[in-house]
Amino acid sequence: MARKFFVGGNFKMNGDIQTIKTIVENLNKAQLDPNTEVVVAPPALYLLLVREHLRSGIEVAAQNVFDKPNGAFTGEISVTQLKDSNITWTILGHSERRTYFGDTDAIVASKTKYATDNGVGVIWCCGESLEQREAGETVDVITKQLAALKEKLDGEAAWKNVVIAYEPIWAIGTGKVASTEQAQEVHAAIRKWLKENVSEKVADETRILYGGSVNGKNCKELATQPDIDGFLVGGASLKPEFVDIINSKQ
Ligand code: G3P
Repeated sequence: MARKFFVGGNFKMNGDIQTIKTIVENLNKAQLDPNTEVVVAPPALYLLLVREHLRSGIEVAAQNVFDKPNGAFTGEISVTQLKDSNITWTILGHSERRTYFGDTDAIVASKTKYATDNGVGVIWCCGESLEQREAGETVDVITKQLAALKEKLDGEAAWKNVVIAYEPIWAIGTGKVASTEQAQEVHAAIRKWLKENVSEKVADETRILYGGSVNGKNCKELATQPDIDGFLVGGASLKPEFVDIINSKQ
């Protein structure tokens, strides 16, 4: 089956009301490839602002959620409140969450289950450090992360609302984008793991995004790869070139 190309913009903890309004205005007037699914993830404070002003057809994502129903969880982001706000996606397991905020494989898996069980789609992030890559441990690291996710998800249907983002940590924010061969090799390994450990249908249907220093110049070649189904973009999602990345299959 043809997987719909998917481009996510992860604004991280960047921007202010004016700059985020400018990004929204640029996206609202841009000619976007109708065959690309687009989701933008502003900082939590600006989720409602972006949802209110952004064109329909582009979805909005949180950058994290909590895996419990509403209650005494000071500072956390509620899945049901996201749904209530017409925020339909969340990023989970970003390496910055895993590194700085203690999101373990099991915590990320639990959050992913809770979000997808409650109607919020998940851009689930995985990736290895430079040391792990240089030690030849890349696939082992990622399959361990995938195994923790599989343990929590209940069968094929649960994967329907999961998009995987492979983000080599050494390529995030560094300008050192993975080579086309490196990215395709890992994406193919992820798809092979899905086929062998979940199902052929999930392997065929799950979008696998590449993230890590994607920009308006390198996106086109990366987009030609059979197992690269889109991008999760950081820095470049704050710039006008984000439109070029959305249109990278054209
Ligand atoms: O989530 C996307 C992000 O980690 C990639 O960041 O700035 O290298 O595109 P960047």
